Amino acid sequence: MSNQTFPKRYHPVHVVLHWLVAIMTIFLLAVGFLVFPNTPNAQEIQMLGMHKMAGMLLGLLMVSRLITRFVLKRPAAADAGHPLLNLVGKIVHFLLYAGVFAIMAAGGSLSQAYGLDNILKGDGSMPENLFIYPQLPIHGNISYILIALIAMHAGAAFYHQFIRKDNLLSRMWFGK
Ligand code: HEM
Repeated sequence: MSNQTFPKRYHPVHVVLHWLVAIMTIFLLAVGFLVFPNTPNAQEIQMLGMHKMAGMLLGLLMVSRLITRFVLKRPAAADAGHPLLNLVGKIVHFLLYAGVFAIMAAGGSLSQAYGLDNILKGDGSMPENLFIYPQLPIHGNISYILIALIAMHAGAAFYHQFIRKDNLLSRMWFGK
């Protein structure tokens, strides 16, 4: 039998990274839907530049987070009360990581394709129709998937906290 001991909560560094990533992901999704409801146009170029910078920062946080996830000790896997739910939980966690990396890759590739960096430097102008780039619908569709995953994930956290009353949220917060 394994005598491995598990901490009661995630390491504070991982906690900080989790909530920074959560805030930035939700913020970037909100910007995508509220600021660019249609294809981004020439007037929105500065916002696009900031969206790209924020996306790159999120990438950095995600990589740091992936490292801390494997390097630092983690609490034992949470029990949702049914093996199938536990499996779904693991899959959703994996897809959250994969989804954030995938949306960043699609966004980065899109901005490369139409030359966002050059346009920001005043060299060239926004294409009339960004839909000629397949990366645009890919980026957009992943955002819907991410919203669904975040809803499932947050719903599961509240299910644990208020229905199973196992205080799961405290595992992703600071304390002794
Ligand atoms: C919106 C509100 C959110 C809440 C209430 C929340 C809550 C939590 C909680 C309580 C845990 C710990 C689960 C456990 O102990 O097993 C956790 C883990 C996790 N969360 Fe969130 N979370 C939120 C947003 C996000 C977002 C936006 C992402 C990714 C983009 C995310 C990705 C993850 C992942 C991958 C884990 C597994 C542990 C890890 O590998 O870091 N969460 N979350």
